[in-house]
Formats: sequence, structure tokens, C-alpha cells
Amino acid sequence: MTANILYTALAGLAVLPLLLYLKYPYIWHDIRYAISATRVGIRLNKYKKKKPFYSVVDCFLDKVARQPHKKFIVFEESSYTYSQADKESNKVANALSQHANLKEGDTVALFLGNQPLFVWFWLALAKLGCTTALLNYNIRSKSLLHCFSCCEAKTLVVGADLRGAVEEVLPTLTQQGVRVFVLSDHCDVDGIESLSDKIQKASDQPLSPQLRANRLPKAAIINQERLWMATFLQSIAGVRSDDIIYIYLPLYHTAGFMMGLTGAIEKGITVVLRQKFSVSQFWNDCRKHNVTVIQYIGEIMRYLCNAPKRDNDRDHKVRLALGNGIRADTWADFLQRFGDIRICECYGATEGNVGFVNYVGKVGAIGKEHFLHKLGYSYALIRYDTEKEEPVKDSRGFCIKVPRGERTGLLVSKIGERTPFTGYARNTQQTEKKKLRDVFVKGDLYFNSGDLLKIDNEGFVFFQDRIGDTFRWKGENVATTEVADHLLMVDFIEEANVYGVKVPGHEGRIGMAALTLKEKMEFDGKACHQHVKNYLPSYARPRFIRIQDALVVTGTFKQMKVKLAEEGFNPAIIKDPLFYLEDSKGYVPMTQEIFNSIAEGKVRL
Ligand SMILES: *[C@@H]1O[C@H](CO)[C@@H](O)[C@H](O)[C@H]1NC(C)=O
Repeated sequence: MTANILYTALAGLAVLPLLLYLKYPYIWHDIRYAISATRVGIRLNKYKKKKPFYSVVDCFLDKVARQPHKKFIVFEESSYTYSQADKESNKVANALSQHANLKEGDTVALFLGNQPLFVWFWLALAKLGCTTALLNYNIRSKSLLHCFSCCEAKTLVVGADLRGAVEEVLPTLTQQGVRVFVLSDHCDVDGIESLSDKIQKASDQPLSPQLRANRLPKAAIINQERLWMATFLQSIAGVRSDDIIYIYLPLYHTAGFMMGLTGAIEKGITVVLRQKFSVSQFWNDCRKHNVTVIQYIGEIMRYLCNAPKRDNDRDHKVRLALGNGIRADTWADFLQRFGDIRICECYGATEGNVGFVNYVGKVGAIGKEHFLHKLGYSYALIRYDTEKEEPVKDSRGFCIKVPRGERTGLLVSKIGERTPFTGYARNTQQTEKKKLRDVFVKGDLYFNSGDLLKIDNEGFVFFQDRIGDTFRWKGENVATTEVADHLLMVDFIEEANVYGVKVPGHEGRIGMAALTLKEKMEFDGKACHQHVKNYLPSYARPRFIRIQDALVVTGTFKQMKVKLAEEGFNPAIIKDPLFYLEDSKGYVPMTQEIFNSIAEGKVRL
């Protein structure tokens, strides 16, 4: 009898996993994720308690001590071990401390493309207790000055190939008392000092850890914590210490820098660094360097899939791809063509306080909900009115949660001590706009992600759309107000409303502007093109222009964007004059022929 019960119980135990699996098909993924997320949480807590705070640079130095001879950076024909990288960054730090007169806590802006020196500078500045501001190297003129002044730096380091861009704005920089260093051996431009010669002569002796010991203001800790969270993504995605990661995304960007570089440092792995993405060299590089982990943004995966097929498409060691923004159709194509590569799609805004990881590899999802998320953050999808462009309120004036498996909602996440929202450097207006008050109860405060998501019954999270003041194109966020401000500087433009429109076969949205013209003025396509070319990086330039007699505004005088974006740029539908930006000619009148070539994918945008 007892034996019988025992047998039944044992048999029950044996089928239990099967039953669990049938009921919860993702249970093993969930458990694995819970374990790695918990481990990460414990470590982060430990780092936070350490005094001074254990930073990514401390982690780098530990790796140098533990594995000095392991390859850290491979770039073109050179490679550097962890120990060599440490020494190179010491040289940079010593040169800076001798010649740049930096104080602890100063911010230095880096205007530099992907190269080992980028990494040495970031390490060096951290060793000196300084903050590095990473500037997007595509920006020019006013935007460059704007970004530079936002980071409150008094020192600018520029790569030799970008010197021209800095010379354009040098008078303003000099006027503001900014010191500019260029990474070359000589420089005879007044107001720019050479730095490479000084680095070569500098000592490679380590700097005193005392230099960075006192950096404990709260803001810095929050930033460090944020940095660690992004850094740990590699651990959560399952990157191992024997992996080799390929980084070609710009290092000034969160994806390349935090998910790529600092993540690699945390795992102590080898980084194959490339100046820029090249579709023809991508797999050759992976083969040549035995790359096992790649990073992506959606566009890149599409470029790879669109490249001509080759016999050796599956001849590589890549096992994991980490990134965000891949579309479901590209995802399926990619797997079919390049073989069994696990794609780990992640979602999270740099400044936001909530994120998801698709740790299951479900095609098309940007993440999966996990019960640990709910312990960690308090987030919700709320109903959103895309016509009025505001959250839907109930009779008491509060927002309405969208239940799982239902329609699309706006992701909001509660701002609290453990889930802070750091906001944007020196941009209180922008920061305030991202906050929602009195969401579910009087006095609460939420971060508005600006993203419309959908969560299915199994907890998979799907990206639906982005609302409001920014849109994404070619992996870059475009701030519509910034583009509009630049357009308003053109003498014949009276008003500008900038938004993003969808283009068949492309991720994100491409820029479009609805304009009204000043009285008795005509739209001058050449002049307008010249202006946007001078002031905006290529991804932010409106590709389409629509001239209206008056801009449509909402009841609250907000510009209507959603409706315009839905109307798109088809001249058969839109009766207003339309213009199309042709790179060689400037803005030319839009024709049905142009529209068809774009719709059929014959023109690359
Ligand atoms: C890549 O791996 C192969 C085989 O394991 C090895 O022979 C080769 O030297 C490796 N290449 C590099 C650049 O490490």
C-alpha cells in the first residue's frame, strides 16, 4: 500500500515537469532568466554598497589583473591585450592630466569615431575621475554646438578626420573658453592643440585610484547603476567568457557603448571593433576573427538579409545576436539564411526606467514579462488616444490600464527611488514632458516611454508604434522639435510640423515636414536642402515636404502629427504640393513615379 502510494507519487513527480511544460511552455526559459536576473541583482547590490562605488572601470582593472594577456580589442590589423589597453589608457590619462588641466569631476566631450583610442580615452577619463560625454560624430555646426553645450564640457577631444567639423564652429567654442585637442601629431590651427604627440611621450604608469575615489554624488551613482544594468544585458542574454563580440555600431551610442563595450568588459571577453558597419565585410570579419556574438539594430539585420546570397552564408561561428528593432519578417529571413543564431531582442530607453528582454527567442517580440519585473518595477500599458494624442482618462480623470492580450497601450513606468528617471542633461523641458502625473492615483508620477506596446496572453511584448516628439530612423532618435527649429530658420518658412512616416520595407519612420510658407514666398527646394544639409545629420533631414495653407492643430493647439503621418506621402492621395529630397538635386516635386519606386523598394532611402 505504502509502496503503491510511493510509486504513484514518484510517477507523479516524473510527469510533473511534462505537465508544467504543457501548461507553461516557457517555464525553463523563465527559470533560467530568473536565475541570471537574480544573480545580476545581487551583484549590482554588492557594487552599490562598495565604497567607493564599484564602477565599470574598476571591473576593467580587475580583468586586467586576472587576465592581462587575453586579447581585449582587435581593430583592423592591430590587437591589444587587457594589459596593453590598460597601459594605453594610462598614457592618455597622464597626457591629459599634464596638458589639459583637468579637475576631478570635469566633463570632457569626445568627438571621435570607433577606434581603440575611443576606448582608451573613456578609460583614461574615468581613471582621472572625469566624465566622458560621447558626441554623435554625424552632427555638425549648430547641432554640434548644441550637443556640446548640453553636456557642460569645457574640453573637447576630436579625431583627426573630424577636425574640419570642429573648425567650422571653432570661433564659438573659443569664445566660450573651450579647450580643443585634436588627435594628431601637429596642428597649426589657432585654438586647437595637438594631443597624439603628447600621448606618445606620456608615461604608462597607473594613476592613483584616489583620483576617482571621491566621485559619490547621487547623480553619478544613478548613472553608474544605469550603466551597470545595460552592461549586464550580455550576462542576461547568455554571453560567456569565451565569446568574441563584434562591435561595429557607433560607440557614442548606448547600443555600441553599454550593451557592447562595457558589457564585454564585464564578461572579460574579446572585442572585434570596426570603424563602421559594412554589409560586404560583415561575415568575412566574423569568420576571420571567430566572432561568436554580434550586436544589431533592426536596419542592420535587414541590410544583411538584402545582400546577395552566398554559398558560405552559414559558414561562421556566430551563435548569438543581441540588439533591438528587428522586424518579425527580417528575423525569420535571417534565421533561415544564416543558420541557427539565437536572437535576443531587448527593449529599453537609455533614460527610461523599464526594460524587457526576449529571453525566449520568440520571433517578433521585443521582450517577455517576468514575475521578477513586476517585483522590480511598477509599469503598465495605458489606453492612448492616437487622434487626440493623449492618454484616455476615466470618469475620475485617471488613466486606464490595458489588460494583457488586449489592445495596444502606452507603456508607463512608475518613478521611484529604485526606478528613477534621470532625465536629459540640461533639458528640463524635455525631461518634464516625459513625466506623467496623477496616473492611477492622485500624486503618483510615471515615466512616459512614448512607446505603444502590446502584451499577449503569454506575456510576450510587441512593439506597435512610437508617439509624440521623437521617431526613429536608421537606428537614431530624431527629435521633431529640433528639426522644426532648424526649418524655421529658413527665410521663407513660416511654420513647420515635423513627423515620421512609414516606408514599406523599412524599420522606423523617415522624416517628413508639413510647412506653411511666409506670405508671397515660394518654396525653394535648393535653399531648403542646403540649409538642412548644413544643420542636420542625414538621418534627421526631412525626406518629404508637404506645403499646407495652414497647419492643422488639435483642440489644445498641439500640432497634429498622427493624422499627417498616416496620410503619408502619396501624391495620388495628398492634394497639397509635395517635395522629395533627392540627394544630388535637393527637394524636387514629388511624382507618382518617385512614389512607386519607393513603395516597390527600388529606391534606397
Ligand atoms: C579561429 O579559430 C580557428 C579554429 O578554432 C583557429 O585555427 C584560428 O586561429 C582562430 N582565428 C583567430 C583569429 O583567432
